[in-house]
Amino acid sequence: MRAIVQDEYGDVEALRLGDIDTPTPGAGEVLIRVEAAGVDAGVWHLMMGRPYLARVMGFGLRRPKTRVKGREVAGVIAALGDRVTGFAVGDEVYGYCEGSFAEYVCARADRIAPKPASLSFEQAAVLPISAGTALQAVRDSGAVKAGQSVLVIGAAGGVGAFAVQIAKELGASVTGVTSTGKLELVRSLGADHVIDYTRESFTTGIRLFDVIIDTAGHRSVAELRTALTPHGTLVIVGSEVDAPVFGGLGRPVGASLKSPFVGQNLRMLAATENAGLLHSLTELIEAGSLAPVIDSSYPLAEAPAAIRHWRDGHPAGKVVITVA
Ligand SMILES: NC(=O)c1ccc[n+]([C@@H]2O[C@H](COP(=O)([O-])OP(=O)(O)OC[C@H]3O[C@@H](n4cnc5c(N)ncnc54)[C@H](OP(=O)(O)O)[C@@H]3O)[C@@H](O)[C@H]2O)c1
Repeated sequence: MRAIVQDEYGDVEALRLGDIDTPTPGAGEVLIRVEAAGVDAGVWHLMMGRPYLARVMGFGLRRPKTRVKGREVAGVIAALGDRVTGFAVGDEVYGYCEGSFAEYVCARADRIAPKPASLSFEQAAVLPISAGTALQAVRDSGAVKAGQSVLVIGAAGGVGAFAVQIAKELGASVTGVTSTGKLELVRSLGADHVIDYTRESFTTGIRLFDVIIDTAGHRSVAELRTALTPHGTLVIVGSEVDAPVFGGLGRPVGASLKSPFVGQNLRMLAATENAGLLHSLTELIEAGSLAPVIDSSYPLAEAPAAIRHWRDGHPAGKVVITVA
């Protein structure tokens, strides 16, 4: 099969379109014929082997343990491994996996779910990681409740665009922080107010929020706290920062350690990945409360360009790879 493979850590030049053996599903796994695969921050980090902490955490000390890139998928089940129940060959599914930038990928049956019928494969493929993360940050953590004022930083990003919609669905008043060209998009997602971070600061202390969902900008916790109510909640999802060893980890860890000693609730999110989340996302999609935003689509052979675009192109919403 054709796949985007990588033998050494490095930037997109380290990737190539290769011909490799089609994987065989093990016990509890299914083989998926890939139709589409989402691009997310994790793809870039695992490609670069950065932060280095990830290498010692099991992703491969000298070279990537998983040669094929891609962590989320939508496609059609082509074969079943032993002890798989609830799925059949031909089922349209979406979910989490390792190696989705390929014609076929194996996924654990407890990490996939039936594809929402109303979505295309491209639309479904961009949900698992980013929408799953947004769901945990906004709803499942219990952070956001009806009537609260919520600030979403990075509101047009992969996670942020879903976070805005989920917070609105919960009945919050949502303010989205984004750059100039994406203000209209964030309004269209349901945000009540938008802030252009290139022109305006939201940490002046004039306006306070009950909840801040932080997905970008790497502002200090001290600065973010100036925009929180005295008993407000800060959920740090993450942000990109040029720190090769620990990445952006110091900030959320510091916030969690500080939290018991202040009136505000300062948390870091470590998102999990499972079929239960996918079923919750499907419910929101089918209720019309959540819709994927796709910035651009690339064929499999152009996966390196897709990753570069995610990193440097300021996409609005998600970048997706199609495998025809
Ligand atoms: N904790 C977890 O378990 C978990 C799970 C998934 C993701 N993450 C992390 O969460 C972060 C966000 O992921 P993502 O996929 O949403 O990334 P993304 O798609 O790149 O979105 C980030 C958004 O933030 C905007 N932005 C950039 N600088 C900003 C600033 N100074 N202020 C406000 N907005 C700014 C960007 O738009 P412009 O470029 O136009 O400004 C972009 O729309 C990443 O660091 C990722 O690693 C963590």
